[in-house]
Order: sequence, then structure tokens, then C-alpha cells
Amino acid sequence: MIDQATVDRVIEAAQSQITDVISDFVHLKKRGINFIGNCPFHNEKTPSFIVSPHKGIFKCFGCGKGGNAVNFLMEHEQLTFIDAIKTLGKKFHIHIEEKEVSDVDLIQRNERESMLVVTEYASRFFIKSLFETDEGQSVGLGYFRQRGFRDDIIRKFQLGYSPEAKDALTKEAQLQGYKIEFLEKTGLTVVRDDYKADRFRGRVIFPIHSLSGKIIAFGGRILQTDAKTAKYLNSPESEIYHKSQILYGIYQARQEMVRQDRTYLVEGYTDVLSFHQAGIANVVASSGTALTVDQIRLMARFTPNVTIIYDGDPAGIKASLRGIDLVLEEGMNVKVLLLPEGEDPDSFAKKLGGEALRDYIRIHETDFIKFKTSLLLEDSKNDPIKRAQLIQDIVRTIAVIPDPIVRSVYVKECSTLMKVEEPVLYVEIGKIKKKKQEQEQGRSYIRPGDSAVTPASPISPLSALSSPTNPFETEEREILRFLLKYGDYPLGPVKTDSDEKIMSVGEYIVDNLAQDELKSENPLHNLILELYESQMQQPGFSARKYFVTHSNPDVSRLASDLLAREYILSKIHKRIKEVKKDEELLEELVPRIVLELKWKIVKVRLEEKRQQLKTAEENKDHDAFIRLMQEIQLFSNAKKELSKLQGERTII
Ligand code: CTP
Ligand code: MN
Repeated sequence: MIDQATVDRVIEAAQSQITDVISDFVHLKKRGINFIGNCPFHNEKTPSFIVSPHKGIFKCFGCGKGGNAVNFLMEHEQLTFIDAIKTLGKKFHIHIEEKEVSDVDLIQRNERESMLVVTEYASRFFIKSLFETDEGQSVGLGYFRQRGFRDDIIRKFQLGYSPEAKDALTKEAQLQGYKIEFLEKTGLTVVRDDYKADRFRGRVIFPIHSLSGKIIAFGGRILQTDAKTAKYLNSPESEIYHKSQILYGIYQARQEMVRQDRTYLVEGYTDVLSFHQAGIANVVASSGTALTVDQIRLMARFTPNVTIIYDGDPAGIKASLRGIDLVLEEGMNVKVLLLPEGEDPDSFAKKLGGEALRDYIRIHETDFIKFKTSLLLEDSKNDPIKRAQLIQDIVRTIAVIPDPIVRSVYVKECSTLMKVEEPVLYVEIGKIKKKKQEQEQGRSYIRPGDSAVTPASPISPLSALSSPTNPFETEEREILRFLLKYGDYPLGPVKTDSDEKIMSVGEYIVDNLAQDELKSENPLHNLILELYESQMQQPGFSARKYFVTHSNPDVSRLASDLLAREYILSKIHKRIKEVKKDEELLEELVPRIVLELKWKIVKVRLEEKRQQLKTAEENKDHDAFIRLMQEIQLFSNAKKELSKLQGERTII
């Protein structure tokens, strides 16, 4: 992590020269003591974007965006805090020294950096081959042009060509001093004993960029479709390329995703290119793999709204259906657009062009209920059993939506469309949720030191950001979110056993969890709590800064994730209802979220004990029966207490 003094120095420099920072992206004109320009965060013709060098802030009076220089860079370039600090450090020539980096970290980082140097070189090699060699021009460039891709798009996506020769890249790279070790690790060279060959040969090349624009992998397409060879060949997984965590085109799309407040999700490389060529830049591709939760969270960092645009064939429909539930489960708003049969986004974009395509999408994108009903209603119209199945299917999807308000909107719609009473739907949803909960609890919650438990489930690795077996994940995350965001806010006066005192939100949470010796099943959650506790007394400690910039990537990732999540939820809520800001409600909310966790724990454990009681009864194990009865009594009392406290704090 970067040491605090350096972070402060960078922030100070950026603040005092905020116009300089923003001028890199916005044309500013002096107006009195301020500067004014066209807002880069929304479309406008008359400028309402003000920069105040005096106060060190910017503010747009059109869209409401505002903040300091670091916020500007984070927002505009979609950078993490740490990357924004690094970028600003470079700009203001402040040397950034990172501390607390272990040797292992250092070696790994060096290795990653060496790999990135090689992929960067390879990309330049492929581009040069495409534009500057006879073979590249006639074969590669010829191919792109014949498919109708313009040169500006080819340049924008840094497309290239890999020559037919067996080791054109490997040979040239080694000649230039690049090590075979990293050529192999990035998958560019295939090494067997003393045989070395290029992975990509005679293919057009699509480099895959990381969120910050580094080239981390390549996809290569053969030029003639033939059944024997796979159409696309991709770089293998590596230290720098995790296929399930990246979306093709995210680097080129991120700003427009924010501006349009929507992402178009398509399947392939060429779909992305064609959309850009038609002037639609908020588009990413899952690149032929089934959509993953990490990919959804990546999109969610920029906007909660996504439209899935897949081919109109059965495979496309299946992929859309699968995507819908996953995306909803992550709390995003999803729409679906099926293209006419035989079209894919690439062909369709080329056929319609930008404006017509935009209109087509706007008119034809539907929410998932309409999508499912339109798919299935036709053949279930006169068949009550099929109709019931369809309703079940839709209800199951509604049940995965985490936000009750969003859920209610869909219940209403399903009720109207399928002509079912709302209460009936709620009962069904309740059943599904209960069943799911039981399944989760079947995997049992184990408290350290507890004797009457089933064999311990394996502790999930620290890298698992969310642990699916932890039935308290939601409650715990909400607590961590408050800790990160409001840990140093005052909360008070709070009643303690003896008197009333003012404490911080962080102190309250730490104290309260310690009282009951609560530990999470997710080790990452415990780690964050421990770190918080060890740091909270440091003068000037800022939880947000500390965790978002933490050197353990699991920690900083979860921190960013939690903070981004809140941003998404607030965006969804804003549209559906007016909510008070969290910080105006801390005194209500903080005790409540802690209570909610405790209540859930008691509830789950109570059910466990009841289960065990049944077994004891069946086995005629008298001692266990008595012990369990007593334990159940204790838990029941605790549950009553907590319910009472909760009742006092109900603020819906
Ligand atoms: N894909 C892949 N390997 C394959 C086939 C497909 O990795 N053997 C991935 C690619 O990312 C591809 C996406 O799946 O872009 C979608 O596949 P497909 O629709 O077959 O390819 P298109 O993108 O339509 O490519 P083209 O238009 O060139 O046929
Ligand atoms: Mn295609």
C-alpha cells in the first residue's frame, strides 16, 4: 500500500492545481474567480460545469456531480482510488513509494509487470504486421475491410495480425531482448523441449484490455471458416489474465457506460466492434463464456442497468435466460433484447446503422417478465398447466432479487400480465425464499468453540470474496459497509450498561460484536474487522482510504465492492422512491443492522437446535434431549429480547 504521507502529498498537490487536473479532460474558460466548461459527465450544450480553484472542488449544476480533484479523476477515468493517486503522482512528479510489500508480493508484481511488458510489445508487433507488412495488409487488413470495419475502429481496438510463419513473433521478440520465460507465461509462445512456436499464426488479432487499458491477453480469429479449426483461439489463463473476471471492451466502454447509465452486453468481439462503429460505445462482450458473477460486478461498478443483447437462436435465448437471474441476483436492473432470427449484434448493427439501432433497442428491449412471457405465453395460452409453470418460473426469478422495493415492482407487473392476484405471488415468493434459506442452513453455521455441531465445513480460502455457505453474508456485509463508510462518524449519545456516552460508529460496531464474541464464517470479513480494530485509534485514521488502498487485494477489492454497491443501490432507489441519506439515519440504522445480524444468528441456531432435538428424540438420547431443551430455551429468550429491541427500532 502507499503510505499515508505520500497520499496526502498527492492529494494536496492535486487540490491546489485542480484546474490543471481537470483541463486535461475538459476545456475550461475563466469566469470571475472560477472556471467554467461543458460537463464531461452528461451531454450539454451550455456549460454548467464549474471548477473552483479556490475551494479545490468541481461541481456540475446540470447533473449534480461534484467533488475534489481525486474524485474527478476516479469518476472520469473510472479509476480506483489507488490508481487515481498513482496517476496524479506521476502528473505532479511525486515519487510514490509503496510500503509493506512482502518479498512474495514483490516477486509476483515484478512477474506481472514483466508479462505486461511482453503483451504490450506483442500488440505493437501485431499492429505493425497488420499495417506494414505485405502479408498483413493483403490478408489481415483485407479481411477486416471485407467485413466492413473502418480503420478508426481497427486502430481504436488495436487490432492486429499474426503472420503465418512458425515463430515470427517469438524470434523478433527475443531479438529485441524479451525473455522467453514471459513469452511463455503469457501464452504467446508455446515451448516444448527445444521447440518454440507462436501460439497465434495466420490470424487476425483482438487484444483484450484490462479495465485500466493494459493488454492482458489476445483473441485470434482464423480467416477462413472451416470446420476443423476452432474459429477463435484465445490466450490461456495466466497471472495477468483471468477470463472470468474481464469483459471484452470494458476499457473502451467504461466512460460511456457511466454517461449513458446503461451497458449493452453482447457475445463476441465483432459485436463490440460493430456497435462502436455504429457510434454506440457502452458495449461489452462476455466473449463466448457463460457470464460470471465477477463480470457482473465489473459492470455494476459503472451502472446498475444492463441490456442483454444476444442472438435470436436457441443458444442465445438460453444464454439470456441464464444471464437474467445472475444479473438480478446482483441487484442490477436487467433488460433483454432478442434479435431477429439469423442476426447477431454485429450483422444487425451493420444493417441498421447507429441511429436506427439505438431506436430499435429502445423499442424492443423488454424487462425479464415480458421476455419470459413472450417466449412462452404463445404455447401456454390455452394450457393451464403450462401457464402455471410459466408463473412459477417468473416467480422464481423475482425471488432472487435482493431489493424488496424492486421486487414489488415486478410482482405488480407479473400480476397484471399473468392475471394473478399479487398476494398469491407473494406467498409463492415466500415459499421459494424459505426453501432456499433452509437449503443454505442445511449447510450449518458453526461458531468457534461450539461442541454440539456437525463436522466443520472447510474454511473457505481468503480469496473467496463472498462465501456462499455463510448464511449471514448479507447482514455481515451491510455492517462492514457501514464500518468503511461511516466508521469515524460520531454516534451518540448511546446507552451503555452504566451510562450514556458518545462513541463512533466503528467503536459501537466493534464493541457490540465483541460482546457476543461474534466471528464470521468468512475469514475475509474477520480480517477486515480485526484490521479495523487495530487501526481505529490511530489519529486521522480514515477507514475508506485505509481499506480501499490496502495492499491485500482481497481486502481492497471487497472494500471497493462494498462502497460501489451502495452507490448502485442509491441509484436504484432514487428512481423508485425518495430515501433519506444513510448518514442522516446513523443513530437508527447502526444499532439496527447489528441487531439484524444477531437476530439472524439466533434464528438459524435455534432451528439447528430444534433439528438436533428431533434427532435426539428419535435416538432416545435422553441427556442430549435435556441439554438441547435448555439451550433452546436460552435461544428463545434471546430471540424474544432481540425482537423486542428490533421492534423499538423499526423505521421502515
Ligand atoms: N469464441 C471463442 N472461441 C470459439 C468461438 C467463440 O472464444 N471457438 C468467443 C469469441 O469471443 C467470440 C464469441 O465467443 O467473439 C462469440 O462467438 P461467435 O458468435 O461464434 O463469434 P463472433 O463474435 O460472431 O465472430 P464472427 O462474427 O467473426 O463469426
Ligand atoms: Mn458474429
